[in-house]
Amino acid sequence: MSEEGARLTELAKRRGFFLQSSGAYGGVAGFYTYGPQGATLKDNLENAWRDRYVTREGHMEISAPDVMPEAVFEASGHLDGFDDMIVECPECGASHRADHVVEDNTSIEEAESFSTDRIAEIIEENDLVCPDCGTELADQPVEDFNLMFETNIGPGSSSPGYLRPETAQGIFVEFPQLSEYARNQLPFGVAQIGKAYRNEISPRKGLIRVREFTQAELEHFIDPEEDEPPIARVEDVTLPLYSVEQQQADDGDIQEVTVREALEEGILADEWVAFYLGLSKGWYERIGVDMDRFRFRQHLPGELAHYAADCWDAESELAGDWVEITGFAYRGDYDLKKHAAHSEEEFTVFKQYDEPVTVERPTVDPDMSVLGPEFGGDAGAVAEALEELVEREPDAFEDTEVTVEVDGDTYTVDTETAGYSVEEVTESGEHIRPHVVEPSFGVGRLVYTVLAHAYEEDEVDDEQRTYLSLPPEIAPTTVGVFPLMDKDGLGERARELAEELRGAGLEVTYDDSGAIGRRYRRQDEVGTPFCVTVDYETQEGNETQDAADADGTETVTVRERDTTTQKRVAVDDLAETLVALRDGDLSFDDL
Ligand code: GLY
Repeated sequence: MSEEGARLTELAKRRGFFLQSSGAYGGVAGFYTYGPQGATLKDNLENAWRDRYVTREGHMEISAPDVMPEAVFEASGHLDGFDDMIVECPECGASHRADHVVEDNTSIEEAESFSTDRIAEIIEENDLVCPDCGTELADQPVEDFNLMFETNIGPGSSSPGYLRPETAQGIFVEFPQLSEYARNQLPFGVAQIGKAYRNEISPRKGLIRVREFTQAELEHFIDPEEDEPPIARVEDVTLPLYSVEQQQADDGDIQEVTVREALEEGILADEWVAFYLGLSKGWYERIGVDMDRFRFRQHLPGELAHYAADCWDAESELAGDWVEITGFAYRGDYDLKKHAAHSEEEFTVFKQYDEPVTVERPTVDPDMSVLGPEFGGDAGAVAEALEELVEREPDAFEDTEVTVEVDGDTYTVDTETAGYSVEEVTESGEHIRPHVVEPSFGVGRLVYTVLAHAYEEDEVDDEQRTYLSLPPEIAPTTVGVFPLMDKDGLGERARELAEELRGAGLEVTYDDSGAIGRRYRRQDEVGTPFCVTVDYETQEGNETQDAADADGTETVTVRERDTTTQKRVAVDDLAETLVALRDGDLSFDDL
């Protein structure tokens, strides 16, 4: 693990952000428990996501099961194609992600986009060895490994199920009903925050590659012919884009361009993807991602997921590596088409025309009194095949005979017997299959990124200090409340104030143990943006007030984490002030 990773993992465990779970039994790779600070930080990020991508955009949110039946993943393509490349060490038996062995030991980046055969060749050409024991991996097969966790639904094995590898499928399978909730009006978006599971070959880098993780996904269903995103809202946002072209050029680099320029210059091909990149840039800034360690990178052709027509990742830089924190994919109608083909539902939306239109519709009305004697038990299937053919390929009926295929056998029928005709019908609308634009966020990776990017060290009062400069909205604790000392009634007043602040909806920690400096350091290390101290001056205010002195105001100090500046604030205004500071409605400088 890198130095940055090791430092963060140590702080995360010591201060309650996250730790490898089941440690008493040796730990399980790829599973993490969020501690008290981490769970709140994760909740705050999820709430900030919900605020941005659901509430403010007017989308719906659902919560679907983690376990889904096999049929869902047969349809979605995950059963067949959701694989990583595996290579096994012939000596120690350890399994490794073959593309990672290549990336870690050659100058090749994005080896995931290569075929298994090519990866096997690269391993051989470069004499690559097992990362665990150093044995040569040449001649070892490189194979596909399906990443889904399998289980059985109910007793026995007749009903296989899988832990969902993406929350998205829970949205797609409910599309017919969700579309009703949206009154069949495109565009509409459905979001979900929930667990997803991938049986990673070699989990690594703390929260970065894990086997159970939280996704925050939005599936935005659009009419590709008509719906346009509100691009004007984001057109002036500058994006750091690393396109396929730049990745493949010898001197390629990140291009800083506005959303509008990126569309005009063809760097971004799709307006919807462009809209979401523009919208998201501000959100990453809001949650504390360092924009000097951030880029949007386009997927290379071989890297695209089986469902994606185009995809850009938001990536954050962590210890010198670029890590995906969000995928912005144009999934087209891939998923809805697949579920329509594998289920009894249509997965379409009825689009009403402004005015009814009269259209010519080719149709058949097979004469069963002819087909029956001619084809016996197959007559019904032949009639169905004719009905399908006329919808799909009406030109096939222009000759005197038409041929259809049923279970591999061909049947020739007179067009007259098929009852072919072209009717004029008035239609009030049509069934269309929406396309899907998907911003998909990995919440654990966001947690890790904001922690890593917030990590700071400086010197205060000649002492080394570590602090997390988390935005107040995201910080797990908003206020630390301390008495200068737990005596002379200071502790009692501080405890009362802590309760009052909790009552105002703030996350508050009360601490009276040890020297005040140590207490500040503890809060700095978990990123608490403000600390309130009750001191003897507070009491003086109290006493003056009791004496009914009109100028007497009870005050406390409020200390800001990053600058360590302290200001006196009236207790009467304290809760309101701290809420405004947390919500960004007031800055500490303006106090
Ligand atoms: N839904 C996109 C992903 O899981 O990567």
